[in-house]
Order: sequence, then structure tokens, then C-alpha cells
Amino acid sequence: MNRFFITTAIDYTNGAPHIGHAYEKVLADVLARFHRQTGEEVFLLTGVDQHGQKVQQSAEREGIAPQEYVDGVTAKFLALWEKLGVVYDDWAATTAPKHKECVRAILTRLWEDRDPATGASRWIYKAARAGHYSVRQEQFLTDKERGPNGEFGPEWGQVEYREEENYYFRLAEHRQWLLDLIDARSGEGKPFVVPEFRVSELRNAVEKLEGDLCISRPKNRLSWGIEFPFDPGFVTYVWFDALVNYLSFAPGYDPIPTRPPHEFLAWWRTVIHDIGKDILIPAHGVYWPVMLKALGFSDAEMPTLLVHGWWNISGAKMSKSLGNTVDPDVLADRYGRAALRYYLMADIATGRDADFSEERLIQRYNVDLANGLGNLVNRTLNMTLKYREGSPAPIDLPADLATHLTANTLAQETYVRSMRDGQVQAGLESLGDVVNRANALVDASAPWKLAKDPEQADRLDAVLATLILSARTAATMLLPVLPEAAAEILEQLNLVAAPLEERGLELLPAGYRCGEPKPVFPRLDAIVPPEA
Ligand code: MSP
Repeated sequence: MNRFFITTAIDYTNGAPHIGHAYEKVLADVLARFHRQTGEEVFLLTGVDQHGQKVQQSAEREGIAPQEYVDGVTAKFLALWEKLGVVYDDWAATTAPKHKECVRAILTRLWEDRDPATGASRWIYKAARAGHYSVRQEQFLTDKERGPNGEFGPEWGQVEYREEENYYFRLAEHRQWLLDLIDARSGEGKPFVVPEFRVSELRNAVEKLEGDLCISRPKNRLSWGIEFPFDPGFVTYVWFDALVNYLSFAPGYDPIPTRPPHEFLAWWRTVIHDIGKDILIPAHGVYWPVMLKALGFSDAEMPTLLVHGWWNISGAKMSKSLGNTVDPDVLADRYGRAALRYYLMADIATGRDADFSEERLIQRYNVDLANGLGNLVNRTLNMTLKYREGSPAPIDLPADLATHLTANTLAQETYVRSMRDGQVQAGLESLGDVVNRANALVDASAPWKLAKDPEQADRLDAVLATLILSARTAATMLLPVLPEAAAEILEQLNLVAAPLEERGLELLPAGYRCGEPKPVFPRLDAIVPPEA
């Protein structure tokens, strides 16, 4: 059985989840459900990034211990995924003992991987360094990061001058290897970065790569992290800790393998990291592949990075300091899980940015679901019950209706290709084609007129069968995005989902009888937010 291993970024636990976090997790959930539907064995890993200076500072501000602070924020993420129907196979929380042990084992392994000639570690060294440090980004800054006026811009937050000893991970000497990997893994085959338009951005950044990665923080200024296994005066830099979650929580991973890791590799070879565009460079596009290389992963075993864009507010970045973050928890309560999931998948192309708008959320739901699919199912079932007591007579379809079903099959094939590429919006457009074509057939064939003409009895049976089969195709294509609504539609149709990668059923099963229609997508009225 083919496998599909998908991970998401693990969210910082220094604030409540917003719509950007929700989007990424719903995207992973939808792709996982789609792959399960095609018969693959799927593993979805998501979680929370609980260490680092930002968390330590937030906890200090609230006057509580960091663990207590992150437990509180983590609970909000867990509750949100439950509310949004995001189902995962494991939960990567970086304060879990299993993860900490894995990070420490990896650090030890890299530290002990010695060059026989010099006796020095091939990957990690200790060095003293002085320079400007961004507290927000938790990194030393170089002159490259200075703005045109020679100052460090506001994106770096508070910048301090620091002088300290730290451990460094060798990055720069792998520059050419990384460039070759990017070139070899672009285009056909198993890509390193999708969508393709992000490749040149990453390549340019790697071209300019210089310097190594500081992977430790002295404990006297940051204690909230994973202690270095070979130097208790330091904790691990939060990114070196966070990226390892993809291994520490992967099925069957063992940092010091005692036997060939067949089970782990069977999953790992399929891994896709669903991440936002802001963490491609340098974390996932530079640090991570070099870390994997250090751990002995081959070029073919490098992951695929599925890089999504951002939800903005009126073209501007969403941020806590601007006070314009959108709370998915409130939206789910106000409009329902289905409306929110559908909007997050239908109104953004994977890789591109989009503007969040509550009006668009309502409109998308009303137009595509209430008036589109919901109306199709409702009138199809009502007419089938009214004119045929739920059972259209089994007859061969005339050419025009056979063509209609062929067009549905083609739409389903396009859908499968889009979904395999992570392009859910495009997938939903194919679903929309099926729905629109079926609703147009209702209008053009006017079954209520056919029902009055005994000579048109066969035609009426054929039209109703075509509509039922079209509704079934649409529900099948909706399953990953809105599993409950799709299951409800299939139940009302009294059919099971169509096989995704085979030609659909072209006739109703013998003895078919449809169920009772119940509105699946009651129209949403614009909800006027309460007066501020
Ligand atoms: N903790 C790191 C990730 C470590 S992964 C080993 C982090 N956390 S985050 O909470 O800041 O962001 C988590 C994810 O949410 C990232 O993939 C980020 O791109 C995504 N988003 C944050 N804001 C977003 C939008 N406004 N829109 C879409 N996604 C956004 O980075």
C-alpha cells in the first residue's frame, strides 16, 4: 500500500492561534483525508513549538512558569483542532520527553562524529562571537540585515549587542551540495520545493549563504530549552529543536538505530512538510536539509516542502501588535466548522497569498454550498421522490446524458491531479464544474415539465439518474474538505462515495432508492458583529 506522510509547522505557543495557523492545519487535514480516500496509508503529524526566548518572556510577563504557560496555550491549539475537525496521527509537543531525548541523542551523535585526522566533530564546534542579536528572531544579525540607513529594521524587534561563546553547526561548507540538490530536485519527479515559483527564491538565498548556524544559547540568558547533552551550560537553539520534531515523532524513528529503519524509511521517503512561506528561508530550505544530511540521509531522502502563502488583512500582514489577527475559534462558532473550512480551502491558491474577508466567507458558503451543491442535492432528491417515489427506472442513458457523466469523470480526474499537487482550491473548482453542470441540466431539462408528458418518461428517468450520479460525484470530491457534510449527502442519496481513481459508476445500482432530503447547507445570513 502506498504511504503518505504529511507534517505541518509546529506553532509557537506564545499566543493564541489565528487564522493562518488554522489554514495550514486544515490544509494538511484535507490532503491527508484525500490521500486516505485514494487508498493510501496516511500519517499526519502536527503539534506545537514550546521552547525559546519568546515563550520564556511571555511566561515571565504573566508571572508563571514556562511549562504552565505553554500548557495553557497548547490547550487552545488542541481545542481548536478538535473544533475544526483537524485529525492527526501524532501530536508533536517539543517539551515531551520523547522529543527532548531525540534532540539530545542527535546532538550527541553529531558531536561524536569525528574527523579521524583532527579529532574534531565534523558538524559542531564551539566558538566565541560578538555581535548584534535580535531577541524576536532569536539570532545574531550580520551587516546584510541592516536596512538602507545602516540600522536594523523593526522586523528584528529589540536588537542587543552580545558577546558570548556558543556551539555552531556547519552550514556554509554545504552550500554547493544544497544548490545541486535544489537543481536536481526541481521540475519533474519528487520536488524539493513546491510550488515551483519558490525555487528561485530559495536558490538565491543559498547562493548568498555564508557563516554557520549558532545552535546553542547560554543558560544564563535562556533557560527554557533542551539542555545540551555534552555541555549543561547551554540549551538548544529553538529551531534546531523544533525541526527535529519531524523525526522525533515520525513513525518508527530511532535516533540511534539498532536495526535497519525499514518502517521509518517507508514513511520518511514520502514526507511532505506543509509550511508557510516565511519559514522556507532559512529554516526549512537551508538548516533542515543540512541537518538531515548530517544525520546520513541521502539526497533522495530529502523531504518535499509544500510552501503555502499567507492570509493578509486588507493586504497587510496580520499581527498581534497591529491588533488585526482573526480568531478562527470565533469564526467557527459564528458560522460553523464547515463554512470556515470551506472558505479556507476555496479562497486561496496554495502558494499564493489571499486577503481574509468575512463577507467572502459568507458569500462563498452561500453561493457554492447553499445555492450550488445544497440546492442540487435538495431538488434532485425532491424530484426523484415526487416523480419516481425515489427509484428512477434503470435505463440506458441517451448520448447527451452519457456525455454529461463523461464530463464529470474528466472533472474528477482533474480534481485528483490538483489534490495530488496540494492545490485544493483548484480541486474545489472541479467540484464546482460538476455542480454547475448538473444544476444547468435541471434548468435545461425541466423535469417538472417532463413529468407531465408520458412520452418523456424514459427521459425523466435518465435525467434523474444523471443528477443523482452527479451529486454523488460532487459529494465524493467534497469529502476531504467537508467530511461530515459529504457523508450526509451520500446518506441522503443512499450511495457510497465513488472510487476516486476509477471510472465512476455509470448506472444506479439495481433496486436503487434514494433517501429523504434534509438541508445540508442552510443559508448563512451576514452576522452583524456586536457593537464594539
Ligand atoms: N514554530 C515555528 C515553526 C517551526 S516548524 C519546525 C513557527 N511558528 S508560527 O506559529 O509562527 O507559525 C506556524 C505556521 O503558521 C508557519 O508555517 C507560518 O507560515 C504559518 N502562518 C503564520 N501566519 C500566517 C498567515 N497569516 N497566513 C498563513 N499562514 C501563516 O514559525
